[in-house]
Amino acid sequence: MKYIIAPSILSADFGNLQRDIEMINQSEADWFHVDVMDGVFVPNISFGFPVLAAVKRSATKPLDVHLMIVEPDKYIQEFAKGGADRITVHYEACTHLHRTIQLIKASGCKAGVALNPHTPVNLLQDVIADLDLVLIMSVNPGFGGQQFIHNTYKKIQDLKVLIRGVNEDLIIEVDGGVGLQNIATLASAGANAFVAGNAIFASGNPAETISKMKSLTTGRIN
Ligand code: DX5
Ligand code: ZN
Repeated sequence: MKYIIAPSILSADFGNLQRDIEMINQSEADWFHVDVMDGVFVPNISFGFPVLAAVKRSATKPLDVHLMIVEPDKYIQEFAKGGADRITVHYEACTHLHRTIQLIKASGCKAGVALNPHTPVNLLQDVIADLDLVLIMSVNPGFGGQQFIHNTYKKIQDLKVLIRGVNEDLIIEVDGGVGLQNIATLASAGANAFVAGNAIFASGNPAETISKMKSLTTGRIN
């Protein structure tokens, strides 16, 4: 089983973005997690295309773009052109989710759907075979540094049941309040991709924290 660590650049120092990107490049991290917030779908505004372009210029690892925006269809093409490798949209933001998933794939990107804490996994039943990734939000989206919601473990289990025999290669990604204290338990529950912002960037040694997270998922340390 391959486990993926995806540091969220939302928690990076934007005055020293190049330095933080370089740290991730040199680290054991697998992806860059890029959180785009529009101030409508979530009560916060993060950044858009110019920052994505800056990350793309220096990043040597895939960009995992998490769109916390309404009407994502309007921008999918531009995010793909801007360097996204994966695009994840929110179930709650898509009236025509099937169409949105097809748009992401047609743009050449891998397709993901994110679920807010209140959204049950079984609502994905009719699109699950089309997806590359499901992102289970373990906090309410909008901000870094929030407290992990415990019901996430049950949702991971529900998702494992849903993909059985249908799409067993689907990546189960967890986002929000993930850190050294819960990553091993999340991996045993069945998650295989882990977003972390605060746990990495607020630690004394981000690269070492990434390395520890990686080790905990692969079971080398506990
Ligand atoms: C929250 C974002 C997350 C956030 C995670 O809305 O989707 O990716 O950066 O931050 P932490 O790891 O600090 O909870
Ligand atoms: Zn995110």
